[in-house]
Amino acid sequence: PPVDNMLLVRDFEEWAEKVLSGTAWAYYRSAADSEYTFHENSDAYRRYFLRPRILRKVGDGDIKTSFVGIETSMPVFISPAAMAKLGHPLGEVNLTKGAGEMGIVQAISANASCSLDEIMEARKDGQKVIYQIYLNKDRKASEVLLQKVEKLKPAAVMFTVDVAWQSKRTMDVRAKNSVDAPIKDTSEPKSKAPLGVSQAIGSYQDRNLDWDDIDFIRKYISVPIIVKGVQSIEDVELCVKKGVQGVFISNHGGRSCDYAPAPIDVLYELRCLRPDLIDKIDILIDGGVKTGADVVKALALGAKAVGMGRPFLYANGTHGQEGVERLSQIMYEEITNTMRNAGVTKIADLKPEMCGPAGPWVG
Ligand code: FNR
Repeated sequence: PPVDNMLLVRDFEEWAEKVLSGTAWAYYRSAADSEYTFHENSDAYRRYFLRPRILRKVGDGDIKTSFVGIETSMPVFISPAAMAKLGHPLGEVNLTKGAGEMGIVQAISANASCSLDEIMEARKDGQKVIYQIYLNKDRKASEVLLQKVEKLKPAAVMFTVDVAWQSKRTMDVRAKNSVDAPIKDTSEPKSKAPLGVSQAIGSYQDRNLDWDDIDFIRKYISVPIIVKGVQSIEDVELCVKKGVQGVFISNHGGRSCDYAPAPIDVLYELRCLRPDLIDKIDILIDGGVKTGADVVKALALGAKAVGMGRPFLYANGTHGQEGVERLSQIMYEEITNTMRNAGVTKIADLKPEMCGPAGPWVG
């Protein structure tokens, strides 16, 4: 259908299932083991409600904001997700151009299917991107990459830490998926075994990461560092102690540890038990976000911005760059509508007392 007929984020998902190749659909949609966390990520948002306030002059306003010093037209960014070319021949470049048109931030996956140079060149003048990294078992290879990244000056570097160990991505494995790894693996032979796309592209990742690895990255990188995949209050606190600029609450879209809690529940827990930490560091969140209301809830509870992974891959797969722009526009409109109807005209006015779990709020 024409892109303007897409009205909801889930319209892209439904269409993607119909038109993507079996390999692309199974790889994008897959999640770990029983997929409990994958479903819980979005189900959990349905348990939180907004408390609209009335008679508050909502005629003017905007949803511009910033996180880790990066300005954005709205509090939504593209989470780093690998292999956009499986869905569309132009791959990540569509995400870059779409993000540029809409004034949002793209986090570029370490396992992107377009080269980093191609992606950086596709940017508009002054367009800000984030680069996501995994550390390689071969530290020399990571060093070379980090030096290159530092030269290209992304607005921030995102260090993904929630795939400590390879997981079973059930649909991906069942589909007997395989691709040539886009990244040169210096320590193991290229996997052509049909264990799924995930295994084929992820075998270079270091399985022995610890907190000192943040210092390793800091040696090469001068821009803000965001730790992606934080799932407990204890680890938020350790991130604050390490002096990184951003904490990204995420469980890799349910692709890593099945039965990890939904990110919105982790954020709520943080808000209730350690609001002091929320004031010390920029909090990002992703996983299961499908509506503008989801974003408004996360922001009210303390997130600075919200990422979306699969929805952008699906929109790119069904409609290319136009799909990426349309998806952003849907989110822009839904966030604006939800905020105004809740009595709020700017992001800074979203407050914790505006969002809470279902049921009467007492006290
Ligand atoms: C991912 N994700 C991911 N994360 C990351 O840091 N580096 C990566 O290369 C990838 N690759 C990737 C591929 C695919 C197909 C998916 C679906 C996800 C995780 C991603 O950044 C994000 O955390 C989740 O996708 C968020 O959940 P939703 O929005 O997909 O529900």
